[in-house]
Amino acid sequence: MAYAAFRSIGAYVPEKILTNEELSKMVDTSDEWITKRTGIKERRIAAKDEKTSDMGVEAAKIALQRSGLDAQDIDLVICGTISPDYFCMPSTATVITGKLGMKNATAFDISAACTGFIYSLSVAKAFIESGMNKNVLIIGAEKLSAITDFTDRGTCILFGDGAGAAVISATNNKDEAIIDIHTGADGSYADLLMTPNGGTGSAHDALDKEAAGCYMQMKGNETFKVAVRTLTKDVKEILAVNNIETSSIKHFVPHQANLRIIKAVGEALNLKDEQVVLTVEKYGNTSGASIPMAINDIYESGKLQAGELMLLDAFGGGLTWGSALVPFSPFK
Ligand code: COA
Repeated sequence: MAYAAFRSIGAYVPEKILTNEELSKMVDTSDEWITKRTGIKERRIAAKDEKTSDMGVEAAKIALQRSGLDAQDIDLVICGTISPDYFCMPSTATVITGKLGMKNATAFDISAACTGFIYSLSVAKAFIESGMNKNVLIIGAEKLSAITDFTDRGTCILFGDGAGAAVISATNNKDEAIIDIHTGADGSYADLLMTPNGGTGSAHDALDKEAAGCYMQMKGNETFKVAVRTLTKDVKEILAVNNIETSSIKHFVPHQANLRIIKAVGEALNLKDEQVVLTVEKYGNTSGASIPMAINDIYESGKLQAGELMLLDAFGGGLTWGSALVPFSPFK
């Protein structure tokens, strides 16, 4: 049987930085409030003509180069995004294959909000283990600034833009394989975090985003509580099922939504500070891009070494959630 190994990581962040100070000139908020309630100090904002696919392509190029594979070696491209280039089609994943000149890949998007990367990882693992694919490129890319209402202080302080990508490949060596992935969803919480209109479920004027309700709306306080509860339960389950102690986790890489959520989950799991990967301060919440961007951060700072075990954990609109036990296994 083939197993799936996490081979390489890459990420891209746009140049423009939007600080809390700048936001406090746009809405009634302050650096002190945002820092205390979320841990976020700044976030990146894509250029006007910079698309989600452009950011995904930059992240993918780095992940491909670090894997040593060529774009033509890739059988499948999955892009987890809630801010696709186009409303219905083509998918952002197919746009990315075009920009990378890929000729041999199947491509599709996954819509699972902040859990997009873990959902993509689970699909990559399944396709590889079934023998259907050998090399899968998974991408989390978001231009959330395009669906953020910059007059709503309850949401605009949280979100940012960016992309991350990883190459997942078949291996016969079980020791370097992804150990397990759990995913879940509960649509009864759909109204906690949504872009209420703009789809075929509602009458809308697609050209007027504000009137169409195409911006993200959130019940922040309720989302916070469900997030802590769900993330903690999810992680405890995947560790118990696989008989793994938290002390064996080298890097806990949670979705970077809010420092207080991450701290609450870390404490419930008795994780030490050095095990917990944090990028929320500089990038805010980049939804499906946040986990690969965080993995890239520890990779580029030399903290992520071959063989080390990562525990990924995410939660997002839908609601969706997921966790994964993933050794970092670059090609030798
Ligand atoms: N600046 C200043 N005050 C703000 C504010 C802002 N940016 N946003 C909200 N407030 C105010 C509210 O209006 C409210 O005022 P009131 O008491 O006079 O009514 C007060 O702060 C408390 O609001 P509340 O929503 O209870 O704050 P909170 O402590 O829950 O923090 C969030 C708000 C959004 C930071 C927090 O709920 C959160 O992070 N939730 C999770 C969101 C998330 O992670 N979503 C993505 C999931 S993937």
